[in-house]
Amino acid sequence: MRKKVIVDTDPGVDDAMMILAALRSPELEVIGLTSIFGNASGYATAQNALRLVELEGNDNIPVARGSDRGLVVEAQMLGTMVHGEDGMGNTNPPLPKGKWLDISAAQFIAQKVLDNPRQVTLLAVGPLTNVALALRLEPRIVELVEQVVIMGGSIGAGGNISPVAEANIFHDPHAAEIVFSAGLPLVMVGLDVTLKVIQTRQYLDKIKAANNPAGHLLRSILPCYQRYHDQAYGMGGDIHTHDPSALAYVLDPELFKVEEVPVYVETSGYGFGQTIADRRRQLGQRPPVSVCVEVDAPGVLALIEERLTR
Ligand code: RIB
Ligand code: CA
Repeated sequence: MRKKVIVDTDPGVDDAMMILAALRSPELEVIGLTSIFGNASGYATAQNALRLVELEGNDNIPVARGSDRGLVVEAQMLGTMVHGEDGMGNTNPPLPKGKWLDISAAQFIAQKVLDNPRQVTLLAVGPLTNVALALRLEPRIVELVEQVVIMGGSIGAGGNISPVAEANIFHDPHAAEIVFSAGLPLVMVGLDVTLKVIQTRQYLDKIKAANNPAGHLLRSILPCYQRYHDQAYGMGGDIHTHDPSALAYVLDPELFKVEEVPVYVETSGYGFGQTIADRRRQLGQRPPVSVCVEVDAPGVLALIEERLTR
């Protein structure tokens, strides 16, 4: 039985790589993409989601557009300096042919989970605004969703968009606090593991050389993302593996070691967007989530390469 997956995403270069690999994974039935602001504007990410399902003939998969801003605060900055103004490496790709649904991302998530009780995995790799809104719309999601796997947060690896905050959480910490406290079957694939999965320039050359539409698109959008990693971290063409690592968890959780621990989200001050692991239950009695703390990085890389080059 194929695993039903909704991808909530802010494409975004690494989102694009992950989505294309997910669509090439026979174990998965991607039943929809829901878009969110983050790496670029809400309009740009919605357009990119449409482009990605159309790229290799998956335009039967619906796209529902989500929020253009956080629940409480407007994002201080988008990820356009990392992913390009268009979210696609400033490549200005052709307009998609399709249109997003008339219902919102939150409505789509709620409806699909209710229609497929205990069968839907929600793979959320952007700010968690849509997920929080879906929970407000339909609290039964907590009991009826099969699993929620997020790319986001950091309990011991510091931040990327700030000294302590990871970008997806930073872009909407209020939404993240709702999601982490809801009692969901939640897996956090954060910087603690994604910074350890390095796609080298040589690895990326293999991905770019794939003679398929996915390889052709990634060849065009990756250079912007590689340049950012070199400017920010001196990585000389190598990049961190954020969203594809979250997909790897969905495909093969054995590639990761998890720790069950409650996580709280700071929503103000210098710690804005920080995810705090409360190992000794000093902050309260909220339910634990599964935080990925170790990863088989070569295993993740092999899995993603195999999907993108098949
Ligand atoms: O911090 C990395 C995360 O923020 C990734 O999901 C990337 O796509 C951006 O959304
Ligand atoms: Ca993302």
